[in-house]
Amino acid sequence: MDLPVVQPVFVAYAQARGVAQRLRFHPGDFFKDPLPKCDVIIMGHILHDWNLEEKLMLLRKGYDALPPRGALIIHEALIDDARKQNAFGLLMSLNMLIETHGGFDFTGADCCKWMKDVGFTRTRVKRLAGPDGMVVGYK
Ligand SMILES: C[S@@+](CC[C@H](N)C(=O)[O-])C[C@H]1O[C@@H](n2cnc3c(N)ncnc32)[C@H](O)[C@@H]1O
Repeated sequence: MDLPVVQPVFVAYAQARGVAQRLRFHPGDFFKDPLPKCDVIIMGHILHDWNLEEKLMLLRKGYDALPPRGALIIHEALIDDARKQNAFGLLMSLNMLIETHGGFDFTGADCCKWMKDVGFTRTRVKRLAGPDGMVVGYK
């Protein structure tokens, strides 16, 4: 799902990679529209653009779109919980604070708490390659 204006870029990229048959673009505005219903939702570098109220709204929309035991994966340059190690994540957060109205990066623990607050029953944090990590919330 992305804004309708992104669709031609998505189609060209999927065709160039030979995966157009396996993917479908869902045009929408996540401030106005519900998220499409599915078993697993990945939000990649989405939450960090927005302030806390907007982050919680997006997590709630993710929760509402999932069936019981469905999963929401938040993929970001997660800051370590002590906020001392992941310089890339900390600098990305500074970047968001400068470039957006209220966006900021966050720790795995922050995200787990927000997910619990909107109703997810179980969460886990996993570090990925480089500065990135993911938080998985299960409905
Ligand atoms: C930082 S990019 C992340 C792109 C990609 N998911 C990634 O991980 O690299 C944020 C994305 O959110 C999309 N976006 C911004 N506002 C949106 C909205 N209101 N509804 C749906 N998508 C939106 C942008 O078009 C952009 O593709």
